[in-house]
Amino acid sequence: MERFALTETCALVVQEGDLTQSATDAIVNAANERMLGGGGVDGAIHRAAGRELAEACRRVAEVRPDVRCPTGEARITPGFRLRARHVIHTVGPVYRSAEKSAPLLRSAYRSSLELAVENGLASIAFPAISCGVYGYPLEEAAPLSLETCREHAGPLKEIRFVLFGRPTYRVWCDAAEELL
Ligand code: APR
Repeated sequence: MERFALTETCALVVQEGDLTQSATDAIVNAANERMLGGGGVDGAIHRAAGRELAEACRRVAEVRPDVRCPTGEARITPGFRLRARHVIHTVGPVYRSAEKSAPLLRSAYRSSLELAVENGLASIAFPAISCGVYGYPLEEAAPLSLETCREHAGPLKEIRFVLFGRPTYRVWCDAAEELL
């Protein structure tokens, strides 16, 4: 685990591990637009939170048929059996190109942070959004995510990245050392 000063008032913690175990006020789910679960970290969060999470997601209004959370936006639900009180569901882009996908990935991080601030939370933990099934290159996602967090940390006290596997963890640590 490595700690950095993201801003004067917000700490950045980069760690290797399982996001579902994070005790921050919220954990961020790398969801899909249907918001009814899936594989990867989405599947892990739903398994750990229990079936009430899927029921809470189903109650989130569809903005169009089968879409509860458009790519780049975020929605908040309780965490149920998770240690985190809340789950912020966001949808990152399926990677196409830096030019097309970077604005959407930035928006997913920004929307999640804005929702945390609006709900008066002090801490939030992210996975590497879009870097699994959605194919976003780690080396492009890491600096983008950290720059966005630095810009939109607001009154948050702690932003964590909880990363699966040593290679992903190293990319985020290197990006943080480069940026901060
Ligand atoms: N804790 C932390 N990180 C995890 C965990 C976990 N328990 N499980 C997986 N990850 C990591 C992956 O290794 C990857 O680095 O989260 C990152 C995001 O990968 P995905 O979960 O595949 O998410 P994403 O690439 O955004 O694709 C989203 O996958 O699961 C479906 O329903 C989801 O359709 C959506 C799509």
